[in-house]
Amino acid sequence: MIFIDRKGRRYLKILEPGRKLLIRGELLADELFGVEEGSRVKFSTGETFLVLRPTYADLIPLLPRRAQVIYPKDTGPLVVWGDVFPGATVIEGGVGAGALTIALLRAVGPHGQVISYEVREDFAAAARKNVATFFGEAPNWTLKHRDLYEGFDERGADRMFLDLPEPGRALGVASEALRPGGVLICYVPTTVQLKETVDALQERSDFGEIESFETMLRNWQVKGMSVRPHFRMVAHSAFIIVSRRLASDSLPSKVIDLPIPPAPAEEPEQNGDDEPPDETA
Ligand SMILES: C[S@@+](CC[C@H](N)C(=O)[O-])C[C@H]1O[C@@H](n2cnc3c(N)ncnc32)[C@H](O)[C@@H]1O
Repeated sequence: MIFIDRKGRRYLKILEPGRKLLIRGELLADELFGVEEGSRVKFSTGETFLVLRPTYADLIPLLPRRAQVIYPKDTGPLVVWGDVFPGATVIEGGVGAGALTIALLRAVGPHGQVISYEVREDFAAAARKNVATFFGEAPNWTLKHRDLYEGFDERGADRMFLDLPEPGRALGVASEALRPGGVLICYVPTTVQLKETVDALQERSDFGEIESFETMLRNWQVKGMSVRPHFRMVAHSAFIIVSRRLASDSLPSKVIDLPIPPAPAEEPEQNGDDEPPDETA
């Protein structure tokens, strides 16, 4: 549960029978069983806290972790641009604290599969604990303690997410594991990694439709007449690189001769993405 004080500060606490919750003052967890979500509860100092089950966006910044987690502002676009659907088979690496894993498990649903690769045993253990605590039982999740640059066991996966320092090094093994048409998402924090990853994708014939973007979320204060953006924001998290696995290994033989439809009436050429709009028109 999260406990929110009068200033909006949030504290994540796990309720277990017999456990004492310590924030400022204490409260026995047992006293909370049966209390409705959205209630205010009083700690021993007399301070009251609003108590709610955390949403995904509440949870992730408070998730116990040692590696950087994916920010909630990026998780939505990752799941949408990564086109994760109920029933999908999704590969993820590395797992870190399991923040993205939880979002993927929610998105694929009980009939999908999430397979995560993590090179560090301690991170794998932490992710296992976080998923068990904050998602629950996940029989459709497999966590492999492995260096993913050495290859994936899976073939025909629908989607893949790489959140590790050199995703460009994993493109060969990613290509083997993804089905043609599958979506590969790389998440990298620096421009150097962005360039290296996109260059590596562009050099290959088995990936295409490459798109790179970042997201910005600016919260607003709406308080009386003071309606303005907050002074602080997460100005940068990471770049998101989306690409599609093509059937390019066998491209020449796969080109199919389709009947050519009659040419449509000529239309004026559209501006390309890199051209500014014609303001004189
Ligand atoms: C930034 S963290 C991932 C955070 C995760 N996406 C989340 O939302 O919590 C990067 C992870 O990649 C793992 N990693 C780095 N190289 C790896 C490799 N070659 N194979 C598998 N995991 C790797 C690291 O140990 C670390 O846990």
